[in-house]
Amino acid sequence: MKQRIFITRKLDDGVLAPLREKFDVRMWESESESVPRDILLQEVAEVDALWTVLADNVDRELFEMAPKLKVVSNLAVGHNNIDLEVAKERGIIVTNTPGVLTETTADLTFGLLLATARRLMEAENDVRTGNWTSWSPMGYTGMDVGGATLGIVGMGRIGEAVARRAKGFDMRILYHNRSRKMDAEVEHGFEYVELDALLGEADFVVILAPYTPETVGMIGARELGLMKKTAVLINVARGAIVDEVALYDALKNGDIWAAGLDVFTTEPVPQDNPLLILPNVTVLPHIGSASITTRLGMMKLNGQAIMDVLEGREPENRVV
Ligand code: GLV
Repeated sequence: MKQRIFITRKLDDGVLAPLREKFDVRMWESESESVPRDILLQEVAEVDALWTVLADNVDRELFEMAPKLKVVSNLAVGHNNIDLEVAKERGIIVTNTPGVLTETTADLTFGLLLATARRLMEAENDVRTGNWTSWSPMGYTGMDVGGATLGIVGMGRIGEAVARRAKGFDMRILYHNRSRKMDAEVEHGFEYVELDALLGEADFVVILAPYTPETVGMIGARELGLMKKTAVLINVARGAIVDEVALYDALKNGDIWAAGLDVFTTEPVPQDNPLLILPNVTVLPHIGSASITTRLGMMKLNGQAIMDVLEGREPENRVV
């Protein structure tokens, strides 16, 4: 009997071909809709490997219904949708997709920063809807990016890639991280500061920290209150790192100038989330790593990791 793999979204056939030669590959055939929980739980009863996306909740209940499961490979660098403690307890390997998405996510981060600072979405929308009526001296005026101070919260690989881009814009670069990055400080002149100092000094605060119990709600009313009234907050990490109610209040009251969000506490973001009606919020549907090459590269890493585990080799990119 061939070992079985279940894939929770429709993925590229080319990436799946090598797996199909050796294993019994089953797949949820929708690209845009999550597999319903009851079907997922039925499928995992017989699987040796599970290939997941961020929207899948891989929790104790699921693990307990999957007696043969050896590996979960997540199509993301983040893995907050997987209960790693239970995976560890049960000796199940979990892998993710770091590295390949670094530059692509940094591009998106910088794009969102520019779009928010210069109000690009609002301006584009006016052109399309016939509201571009005349050139206006102060119309669509935003914040300068060139020469401004950037504060990066969470200086991992993506943070460093954003900082390198910012150097091309002559920005001063502050960062806050669990550990100092001495090499980057010496090589690129990045400055380490405590979080409160970063929030007080930065014109652009970019959240790139991982989602952990320590970072949930890390940016709340107090932290937003430390930011400049002219500052812009960019979140491309996980929605729940920023308290969305406090963010709404800060944006509405003019405590900060704008926010650019690629991530939300609940995704897809509910249409009644009040952040969506604020004019000074730029929103995207969690597309940090969404380039064709990068997404295919991420899939290749997942496919290889599954193949490695099922054939008894140690996979790369193990989280546990
Ligand atoms: C996306 O958010 C990822 O973690 O890859």
